[in-house]
Amino acid sequence: MAVLSVRRYGDPILRQKATPVASLTPAITTILEDMVETMFQQVGIGLAAPQVGIPLRLIVMDDGKRGARALVNPVIIERAGAVRAEEGCLSLPGIFAEVERSESVRVEALDGGGAPVSFEARDLHARVIQHEVDHLDGILFIDHLPPVTRDRIKKRIQKDGLPEAAPHHAFAL
Ligand code: NI
Repeated sequence: MAVLSVRRYGDPILRQKATPVASLTPAITTILEDMVETMFQQVGIGLAAPQVGIPLRLIVMDDGKRGARALVNPVIIERAGAVRAEEGCLSLPGIFAEVERSESVRVEALDGGGAPVSFEARDLHARVIQHEVDHLDGILFIDHLPPVTRDRIKKRIQKDGLPEAAPHHAFAL
């Protein structure tokens, strides 16, 4: 396994729409393993393939039980509720803001072994999935902020740049 380099805000790949994966080849399995290693090395709780320069619809997330869950071609088919909480992103180190997300989501995907899965996720787990599926569509969490807040963050990044090493934080995706 290998730790991959995480692309940062400004990299055009973060704004591309990622392509569905046609079949779970050994190469895809290797990418998923490398994404898991990268996520844990970066102390993230979720990671999408475009964040490591791979424009495919793959996400991994911390399962909260010292393991990771991989989802291939994830689709959110139902949403319910709304909840605000602070979010960060491994591609925007040092930037945190409150984002409104659905409280629960129903997801269809293939798991890391290629089997179809359908499940409901709530709270933090639901938030991570929404954040990562956004990455697959070229959307960043700052896109959900009120324009005034978003502009303030963009100006700050233009002026100061992003920190070289992100301060470790419990919530980076
Ligand atoms: Ni992110």
